[in-house]
Amino acid sequence: MREINNIVILTGAGISAESGVATFRGPDGLWEGHRVEDVATPEAFQRDPDLVLKFYDERRAKLQTVEPNAAHKALARLDAEWGGNLLLVTQNVDDLHDRAGSSRLVHMHGDLLNGLCLSCGQRSVITDDFSNRPACPHCGERTIRPDIVWFGEMPYHMDQIELALARCDLFVSIGTSGAVYPAAGFVQTARHYGAQALEMNLDPSDGSLYFHESRMGKAGELVPAWVETLLSY
Ligand code: APR
Repeated sequence: MREINNIVILTGAGISAESGVATFRGPDGLWEGHRVEDVATPEAFQRDPDLVLKFYDERRAKLQTVEPNAAHKALARLDAEWGGNLLLVTQNVDDLHDRAGSSRLVHMHGDLLNGLCLSCGQRSVITDDFSNRPACPHCGERTIRPDIVWFGEMPYHMDQIELALARCDLFVSIGTSGAVYPAAGFVQTARHYGAQALEMNLDPSDGSLYFHESRMGKAGELVPAWVETLLSY
């Protein structure tokens, strides 16, 4: 195994589960009572904007009631103490990694706190409920949608992520089902360039077979232990 200097970490809804944020693919296949296609596609927004805006307002309100857990905090510690390159790529739209203190962080599927203006294309922090149709701070139009990458849309920061994957020595996936591309394919890209691959998840993900090692359990327990070991070398 080559020496570890450059690390890419991918996180998904499972890392926030112990903070009380619902994962997407629960046993009933619904996300907070909705089919994903009814709330997380551009078509759904076109068809029923009120439903979609209300849905994301509820997710935004929920953020005020949750806190980063031991896994978010351990990754922030790794970010602070790791001397090599590190990129934390989250699919999550909550701000728990940010609040835990991670700074080498990108939100590839957007950010619940932000709105995206359909008139001027600017992204900005929106504090009012989307349902109140707040004005865009840049152009003043009341055409704000959630700054969320919906199904069928291009994730953010892909150039930076692809570059980091090509250079990493270790790729780590935490709390993601491996059901949604392109994130689900990151492990194969990293391995193509020679990285080791480690997965930490409650259940085997769809892509478990691509990892050199899969650790099954709760992120709040597995991640702090992994970070402790990595930093003690
Ligand atoms: N610790 C670790 N893993 C957990 C925990 C936990 N405490 N609880 C649940 N998990 C695992 C589940 O076993 C599951 O494999 O987290 C995974 C969550 O999977 P999903 O709900 O599918 O979430 P995610 O992979 O992040 O979804 C990807 O799909 O809907 C879109 O854009 C949305 O970013 C999202 C993307």
